[in-house]
This record gives sequence, structure tokens and C-alpha cells, in this order.
Amino acid sequence: SETEDGRPLKQRLLVVANRLPVSAVRKGEDTWSLEISAGGLVSALLVLPGVKEFEAKWIGWAGVNVPDEIGQKALSKALAEKRCIPVFLDEEIVHQYYNGYCNNILWPLFHYLGLPQEDRLATTRSFQSQFDAYKRANKMFADVVIKHYEEGDVVWCHDYHLMFLPKCLKEHDASIKVGWFLHTPFPSSEIHRTLPSRSDLLRSVLAADLVGFHTYDYARHFVSACTRILGLEGTPEGVEDQGKLTRVAAFPIGIDSGRFIRALEVPQVQEHIRVLKERFAGRKVMLGVDRLDMIKGIPQKILAFEKFLEENAKWHDKVVLLQIAVPTRTDVPEYQKLTSQVHEIVGRINGRFGTLTAVPIHHLDRSLDFHALCALYAITDIALVTSLRDGMNLVSYEFVACQASKKGVLILSEFAGAAQSLGAGALLVNPWNITEVAQSIAYALDMPPDEREKRHQHNYEHVTRHTAQDWAETFVSELNDTVVEAQLRTRA
Ligand code: G6P
Repeated sequence: SETEDGRPLKQRLLVVANRLPVSAVRKGEDTWSLEISAGGLVSALLVLPGVKEFEAKWIGWAGVNVPDEIGQKALSKALAEKRCIPVFLDEEIVHQYYNGYCNNILWPLFHYLGLPQEDRLATTRSFQSQFDAYKRANKMFADVVIKHYEEGDVVWCHDYHLMFLPKCLKEHDASIKVGWFLHTPFPSSEIHRTLPSRSDLLRSVLAADLVGFHTYDYARHFVSACTRILGLEGTPEGVEDQGKLTRVAAFPIGIDSGRFIRALEVPQVQEHIRVLKERFAGRKVMLGVDRLDMIKGIPQKILAFEKFLEENAKWHDKVVLLQIAVPTRTDVPEYQKLTSQVHEIVGRINGRFGTLTAVPIHHLDRSLDFHALCALYAITDIALVTSLRDGMNLVSYEFVACQASKKGVLILSEFAGAAQSLGAGALLVNPWNITEVAQSIAYALDMPPDEREKRHQHNYEHVTRHTAQDWAETFVSELNDTVVEAQLRTRA
């Protein structure tokens, strides 16, 4: 039961991410219920148990503070059934590491929104303590990984929360195979160099054997940051530091397209579709599905829709925008402000263009279950994915997967990683240019059927051919090869 180079046929994979695929809700002293977590990272990695080459286990935070031992034991047991191992983070660490350093500093910076300024400046003063908490949290993740590690395992670290983890693991045992993958953009080196801890983070990531990004551009930015900020050598293979190579490459993620395509056949989904079609009969449906996050460009999208209504009286009452905005990181003030801002704009536009019987925007501050979401994707005429920046954006992929019969139009931000794969089929827009987005909406509504079909076909082929399963297999096999090559180099 081994491959030629001695690896077991089913490779043990420790997948480490800040958030586990399930989040826990406490129901009693020792009872928990588990819900699927939101976000692109989780939806892509959910496929892992189905990949026959891997035996995957998850290590991460269950999104909840569990101070007592009884609760911790019970939760660990419940999570074990889902092949998940929890990392327990107390409130103070969550505040400083997750709300602070990860989501108020790294996340906006990596999406080109810069470091805290003006009212976010207060947080900069506690920058050092947040960075210390970040390192402490990464160390806590490392301790759990080390406890569960068995020789030969692959440890796959994910995202901006865990940039310190590769270093912690390699310092403990240099023979651990470590990969790190970033689910956000990696910004231009000129942006990264504004970060006070810029060098520490780069050096720590470079401790991994393989470093992966969604697009070639992000990989290039990372290599430039290493050459310009650390003075190391960039090669076509990656980054070299005194003869040691860290392999850097692009691995564009995908979705489990089959799961969406199959869901459309489920009677419950067909019933949802019937109800929705009846509800919106005579109107074209435009859809936005986003976490309520500043990078998603929700206010800009809604303002573009307003501009479209202003300039296209013939469409009043004949089009509706459904915006699903899933609340996220609600303890971070920036996200709280965004919620009120969006509510204010939606209220104003509905007041302005609504009638006694219909409003132009339906805005929901919550997530939908998987079946309702598939039905919504299937009845949509135009999807609006207008992120200001986005690592990849899998909502665009999910929409395409559900559109085999309708062949609707995807309006897609050129600043989402997905623009590089779905660019030829989508209408690409600059989300900051509200006039351009409004014009694209008008164009999409009147698009001739043969153009729609051609565009859809292009995207459908991509989404069904480049799946999350392929992505995971390619990354892990490249990681195995990289380690073997490095061993051969040291022997030679
Ligand atoms: C993005 C990040 C993920 C994160 C997700 C949800 O997709 O890349 O790492 O899990 O957002 O955000 P949250 O803060 O709720 O985990």
C-alpha cells in the first residue's frame, strides 16, 4: 500500500486554518451544535474528505470561547466526529490576534485598503501588542499540530492568520513537510513594505517548503517583496536564501462543481426554484452574495444599481436586486460601520424607486442554507460580483455552476482573482467606476442570447474542469515533489 517513493497510498494531511469548517454553538454545559462556517476557504476545503488520496484532519478554531474544561472536552469529542481538532483561543487572544492583527491590519492591507488611518489609528498604537498576540496564537496552533503530527504527514497551513506557523513547525522539526497557501491577494511589495512586521512575516512564510497563491500575480508580488525587502534572490522556482530554495507558485482554487450541479436535481431545490420564479415573475433577477465585508464593494455595487435605475426608466419595476450579505467579524468596528452604511443606502434607494407593491432591492443580513442558495443561483439573470479586491471569489464559480439552463450573465470585478479565469466569459468591470458598472448592467439585461450562451459556456467549462479537488491534489503532490527534490539536492 505504498507509492514508488515509499509514501502511503492514502496520505495523512493535517489541514491547519484559523477557522474550522464547522463553527460551534453551545447548547448546554456539555452539549454543542455544529454549523458549517462561511467563506471561500471553508467551501473549497470541504471537498478534502472526498479526495481518495488523502486522509485529512482539520486543526483550527471553532469560533467560540470555551473557558471551562467540561465544555472543551465535550466540544473536542463532537468535533472529532467531523475529523476536526480544536485550538482553544481565549477572549483576549481573539481580540488582539483575530479582531486586531488579522482582521484590522493584515486583511485590509492585503486587499489594498492600507494600514489603519484616522479613526482606525487608535489600533495602530497597540500594533506591537497585537503582533505579539498574533505570534502567540500561531504558537498555540503549532503546539496542537505537533501533538497530532505523525512522521510522513503533510502539514498544509492556510491563510493570513497563520503566517508564523511554518517557522514554528520547522523550528520544532525541520523534516516536517510544510505547505502554506494564501487565500487572499498578496499585494504589491510597495504595499507590503508599509507593514511594521513585514520582514518577520516574510521570513516565517519562507520556512515552508512550498508557498502557494491563487494567481501568478500574487506569487510575483510575494517574490518581489522577498527580493526587495529581504534582499534575497528570486528565481523562476521561488525564493533562494543561501542555497535554500522555497518553492513559490500559483495554484488557482476551484469549487466542487458537481455538488452544485447535483443539488439542482434535488426535489427540495426544485421546489425553491418554483417558488422563487413565481415570486419574481415578470422581473429580471440580479443577485449579489457576499460576506458583509469592506472588500466586497457592496455600497459601490448598490450605488451602481441606483445609477442604472436613474438612467434606465424602462427597467423600473422590471428588475430586482437581491443582495445576500452574510454578517462577519461583527466585533470589528469597521464591519459595524459598514453594516449601517449599507442599510442606509438600501433604505434610501428603496424609498426613492420603490412602489406600494415592490421595492428594487431586497437586502438580507444573513446566510442561506445550501439548497436555498443553489435555487437562487439557478433563477438569477445577472450575478454581480464587484469586489474591490478579492483573492479568488468562489461565488462567481458557484453561480456559473448553477446556470446550465438559464445561461445568465456574470458581471465580475477585474480585481477578483476569478477575473483571470472567468474573464473571457464574464463582463469585467472596475467596481470603483459606478458609471461603468451601471452600463454593464444595462448591457447584460439586453445581451443577445447567443452571446450569453457563448460567454456562459466558456465559464462553465472552466468551473467544471478546474475543481477544488484538482487544486488540493495538485498542491499536495507539488509539495511532496518539492521535498523529494530538496532532499536530492542536499545529498548531491
Ligand atoms: C476569507 C478568508 C478565510 C476566512 C473567511 C471567513 O475567505 O480568506 O480565511 O475564514 O474569509 O472569515 P472569518 O473571519 O469569519 O473566518
